[in-house]
Amino acid sequence: MITTAAELRAKFLEFFKSKNHAVIRSASLVPDNDPTVLFTTAGMHPLVPYLLGEKHPLGNRLTDVQKCIRTGDIDDVGDPVHLTFFEMLGNWSLGDYFKKEAINFSFEFLTSPEYLNFPLEMLGFTVFAGDADCPFDEEAYEEWRKHGVSEKRIAKLGKKDNWWGPAGLTGPCGPDTEFFYWTGPKPAPEVFDPSDKRWVEIWNNVFMQYFKKSDGTFEPLKQKNVDTGMGVERVTAILQGKDNCYETELFLPLFAKLDEIRGITHDGSVRTASERIIVDHIRAAVFIMADGVLPDKNGREYVLRRIIRRAIREGNKLGITGDFTAQIADVVIGIFGEAYPELENGKANIEAELTREEDTFRRTLERGTREFDKMVARVPEMVKNKVISGRNAFNLYETYGFPIELTIEMAKEKGFSVDMKGYEEARQKHIADSQTAEKGQNKGGLADHSEASAELHTATHLLHKALRMVLGDHVAQKGSNIDGVRLRFDFSHPDKMTPEQLAEVEKIVNDAIKADYPVNCREMSPDAAYAEGAIGLFGNKYGDVVKVYSIGDFSKEICGGPHATNTGKLGGFKIQKEESSSRGVRRIKAVLVKE
Ligand code: ALA
Repeated sequence: MITTAAELRAKFLEFFKSKNHAVIRSASLVPDNDPTVLFTTAGMHPLVPYLLGEKHPLGNRLTDVQKCIRTGDIDDVGDPVHLTFFEMLGNWSLGDYFKKEAINFSFEFLTSPEYLNFPLEMLGFTVFAGDADCPFDEEAYEEWRKHGVSEKRIAKLGKKDNWWGPAGLTGPCGPDTEFFYWTGPKPAPEVFDPSDKRWVEIWNNVFMQYFKKSDGTFEPLKQKNVDTGMGVERVTAILQGKDNCYETELFLPLFAKLDEIRGITHDGSVRTASERIIVDHIRAAVFIMADGVLPDKNGREYVLRRIIRRAIREGNKLGITGDFTAQIADVVIGIFGEAYPELENGKANIEAELTREEDTFRRTLERGTREFDKMVARVPEMVKNKVISGRNAFNLYETYGFPIELTIEMAKEKGFSVDMKGYEEARQKHIADSQTAEKGQNKGGLADHSEASAELHTATHLLHKALRMVLGDHVAQKGSNIDGVRLRFDFSHPDKMTPEQLAEVEKIVNDAIKADYPVNCREMSPDAAYAEGAIGLFGNKYGDVVKVYSIGDFSKEICGGPHATNTGKLGGFKIQKEESSSRGVRRIKAVLVKE
């Protein structure tokens, strides 16, 4: 019988070893050669070359426990099952076995008394329903049926749920079959409903048989692969009869330390979101730092900084006033040091860096909070309207380094709101002001009046608008460059965009192109432009007359031009790349593809 996480890891690897799989070590959380992701989010990243046909030195059957970081789900952290860091158990066929054998292995591991010993009546399954790119996965469906799974316990779902990869815009991918465990009161319902959160996904078998090309189409891979992923934390909880991940030996000592730091005795009630976020985030930070990343201003370093700072902020909410992250980190290292020696090796450094980050942030917080309180007390009309002006919010950031998220959060706690439009305005003005001296800045391509450049310029406006529709109004232009072949657009956004978001942005732009909107230009004062809701850079143009380009009623933006006369002639809009440009700024490169 398996009960602990350590037993689960060991038994999983032993099982697949007995099926001729070679055990490989977890790869680093920092992807080796893959600029499309900031962190390793699944076991497939390090194995992409082998999924595409390169020979793996240890053969074509592999098994592993892979460290993973997923920040896409970060807002879900605090709920029973979403974690920022987690361990994923995997078995891999690199062009060797396929659906039938993979399902047989999974079924045996799930139900055999020697392994997970899960009763079939507690399990639900999903298979790919089929669409224009790939047919219904009848083979997977029939395999489950052969194992005695009732039709009512097999849900057929589309790409959104039953398709995995690619991690970047292009790459290996395919339909999958997922297994769920019922964590609600027994008996489990007769009909499996994957939208009921009490059915928790525990394992995924991906049948990687396609390559997603940059034009969005799918082409069969040279070889058919299997990529599976089982969540250690979730399965450990289930083995121990718990309905959430936080009640096992992987987390309990962290909460005990947190209680000790707070000087409280836990009454046994369910842990709060703040408590969960603290232990989750510090655990993730320790693993990220053990792989050589330190908190800083850009890219993955900035993600790490945000994770640490969020934990500190939650600690503050619980009344913790002194440094505490290193003490929790110490317990994390105690739990995982044996399985992951890099934690033990990095211990002194990790704990020192955490404390340093904590000191810096605490000073920022203290100063910022003081200023915030002063501001709220001082400005009577603000108290009346209960709105923090954009300029004040921006000053807090600019002068005290106080992050806007915290201003919003603290404002909310006091029943205030923040004028985000005004904040963006103040920020844009600041950016433009600091660029005034840099001649030619943000003017890339403007001097080039070729038709191709004009069209790319119009496409840039469509992109800007689409990004705001998909990601939110915090998206603002930070730079743009057009070289007659492609456009480059830099914009404020804290996170890497997901493939879904990119696909949605592309679709919105292409729909706007198809709608064949006319492009019109009018001149007016910046104030009038702003009053009309135009977006774009103000700055050094303040006080002058500006040109406002409208694209149908889709977009309105201040800009020097030149532009196409209407959108219909632009061709197909294709995003080639989305990457980090600098701290909090993403960069998109895109082209217009003519038929
Ligand atoms: N790569 C698959 C997943 O992460 C197994 O779910």
